[in-house]
Amino acid sequence: MGEVIVITGLGDGMGRHTATMLAEMGHSIAGFDVDAKGVASLSEEMDKIGGEHLLMPLDISDRKGITKFRDAVLRKYGKVDTVLSNVGIGFFSPFEEADLEKALKCLEINVIGAAAIFQAFIPSMRDRKQGKLIAMSSLVGRIPFPFESIYTASKFAITGLMLSLRYEVEPFGLKVSIIEPAQVSTTFAAKIHVLPRDGSPYRERARRFIERDDELIKTAPTPVFAARRIVKVVTAKKPALFNQIDFNSSFLLWINNFLPTRIRDMILVNYMHIKV
Ligand SMILES: NC(=O)c1ccc[n+]([C@@H]2O[C@H](COP(=O)([O-])OP(=O)(O)OC[C@H]3O[C@@H](n4cnc5c(N)ncnc54)[C@H](O)[C@@H]3O)[C@@H](O)[C@H]2O)c1
Repeated sequence: MGEVIVITGLGDGMGRHTATMLAEMGHSIAGFDVDAKGVASLSEEMDKIGGEHLLMPLDISDRKGITKFRDAVLRKYGKVDTVLSNVGIGFFSPFEEADLEKALKCLEINVIGAAAIFQAFIPSMRDRKQGKLIAMSSLVGRIPFPFESIYTASKFAITGLMLSLRYEVEPFGLKVSIIEPAQVSTTFAAKIHVLPRDGSPYRERARRFIERDDELIKTAPTPVFAARRIVKVVTAKKPALFNQIDFNSSFLLWINNFLPTRIRDMILVNYMHIKV
């Protein structure tokens, strides 16, 4: 018997591939995306796959909308087994030049958005004494990257949020997991890579960073590869707390536990071609 799985931001990227793979396995998918066209085309794709789904266009920062979505899901299915908080937007800028209003929006979507979707479904899961809460964090949720200070802050925050709430909900039978992709070849990075203004003291290094990132993305795991790994976490009886997508990032996070920060920084700066 399939499970009921909520996925946020399933109109594109990893969320979309994860949703279709789970639907093909016979699970019921409920979810939303701010991109109405993405939702409409996914609905068509899901109709062809068959099975149950409840998809709608919705912005994760619309609190009333989240409550209505939650009510519609529980009305239709009577329960939710897993919530995968996948929505996330990037933010690329030298910290000194970051527009703080845009930064607030990034934190709102990446952190408070995840908090809102989990808050919405925890009560029904707690009543049933089962359920999984899974958040898409990032490698930068544990290893900070330059020119991504705001995004890094948002991913450290989501990792911290999950690690903290786990103490509260696990006694009620709920499981908490964090997924930490490194680079995945969705359109995610291309949406945010903008050079700092002419004359910016950070422009040259940021340019080299973007070039390096664009080069690395050519060999990065595809969203389909990533989705296969995410599906494994979603369907695991006892998912691990921390889950990476590819071996390189697992190795990097492991070695990060032992490397002196000075050495780690040296490797990162050289790897991203941003040595002064
Ligand atoms: N792609 C990467 O390299 C990478 C690396 C590490 C972590 N991640 C994280 O993985 C998750 C998915 O990333 P992706 O690469 O598939 O991204 P993506 O940009 O391809 O897809 C994200 C989806 O979220 C939707 N979305 C954006 N803002 C929204 C909002 N306010 N309300 C509702 N939906 C909204 C978008 O329309 C899009 O369909 C994100 O949390 C991201 O931070 C991505």
